[in-house]
Amino acid sequence: MIRTTALALLVTAGFSFNALAQEAAPETPKAPGQELAESVCVACHGADGTSVSKDPIYPHLAGQGADYIIKQIKDFKAGRRNDPFMSAMAVAVATEEDERNIAAWYAKQIVKPSQATRVDLVDRGRQIWRAGDAAKGVPACAGCHGASGRGLPAQYPRLAGQMPEYIIAQLQKFRSGERANDPENMMRTIAERLNDHDLNAVSEYATGLR
Ligand code: HEC
Ligand code: HEC
Repeated sequence: MIRTTALALLVTAGFSFNALAQEAAPETPKAPGQELAESVCVACHGADGTSVSKDPIYPHLAGQGADYIIKQIKDFKAGRRNDPFMSAMAVAVATEEDERNIAAWYAKQIVKPSQATRVDLVDRGRQIWRAGDAAKGVPACAGCHGASGRGLPAQYPRLAGQMPEYIIAQLQKFRSGERANDPENMMRTIAERLNDHDLNAVSEYATGLR
């Protein structure tokens, strides 16, 4: 008699566990890459690729071309591009599959539009972006980064919406040769021909593109 009751109890308990398991809301499966974005990259780039840090050295990654992201991660890992923060972080993207997943995750996020704040620079910036400066041998940025700054797959990164301070910093690094991972010296040759005023102007213009 006692035994039967115990069995009945066990059976009932078993039933209710099953019922509980079935009632629990199914977890939305995470996209590949999302986990890494939320656990590691989030600290500096935001999980959705919009850098939340007040420090403008951390670039937005939202809407950046996937192939460009993969190339940069490989370059950081191999020491072709160097940064005290990012070089150590690139190692967290361990495998080629991780590289593809994290790149696909950030590429599909939506960029929050940015705005040019130095209106005094925008006219000169627009001129360089659209037409370049023939006298100085500067080609139009639009030729490679697109008229709207969205970039062109696979090589040419998006600049539209990027933080102006980050754009300025990268142009300065290309100009000094500190960043030298651009294929065929493309960006180093151009940046060398930009004086400080033009460099600031074109960065200001690029950030406001959408
Ligand atoms: C501790 C802060 C930090 C963390 C965490 C971090 N990064 Fe970065 N990342 C940076 C900085 C700083 C730069 C800009 C480096 C420079 O100025 O050249 C950067 C640049 C990049 C770039 C190049 C962007 C461009 O427009 O060229 C990519 C891609 C990138 N990070 C991916 C990642 C991924 C993926 C993760 C997560 C695995 C990650 N980062 C985690 C600090 C960080
Ligand atoms: C001939 C093609 C070409 C032209 C013209 C060009 N770029 Fe680039 N740019 C590139 C390539 C390629 C890269 C990516 C290099 C790499 O792989 O790291 C790049 C990268 C950049 C970056 C770094 C972006 C990031 O997310 O780190 C900035 C900033 C930039 N270009 C600004 C400009 C500006 C401003 C102009 C116009 C004065 C310009 N570029 C004209 C080819 C070009």
